[in-house]
Amino acid sequence: MHLTVTVNGEQREGDVEPRLLLVHYLRDVLGLTGTNVGCDTSSCGACTVLFDGESVKSCTVLAVQADGAVVTTVEGLSSGDLHPVQQAFRENHGLQCGYCTPGMVMAAVSLLRENQAPSEADVREGLEGNLCRCTGYHNIVKSILAAARMPGATEVPA
Ligand code: FES
Ligand code: FES
Repeated sequence: MHLTVTVNGEQREGDVEPRLLLVHYLRDVLGLTGTNVGCDTSSCGACTVLFDGESVKSCTVLAVQADGAVVTTVEGLSSGDLHPVQQAFRENHGLQCGYCTPGMVMAAVSLLRENQAPSEADVREGLEGNLCRCTGYHNIVKSILAAARMPGATEVPA
């Protein structure tokens, strides 16, 4: 099936298998390997991307469903310098092994777009769909609370 999708501000076009998942399209067809696969069960959130501005688990979406959509992956978050949310993760050491980090960062951007002044409880609730196998939630939550105080934390390059 034919697919036209804007990914990180660039229009991409081509034929894909109807059963191809968006996460595999991003990683294997476009080479955007920042979006990770961490489970087979739609539960880990390592594959989280923004889909028309909303966070989605890209392993739960078919590539063809993205026809005409705007998708942002972690690679598209910054245009040069780190995005404020990435910067906050860096400053607060919001990671251990880092495998979940791209999904956490994308979930955090989405969360902050919905609630610009979240409480710690709001952040923990907002991250429920993202699992960290290192269980380092304390610094991840701290990072997102710090990001909420940074200008531009909800902005995504067009
Ligand atoms: S790989 Fe998508 S939720 Fe785990
Ligand atoms: S930092 Fe290792 S999975 Fe989250």
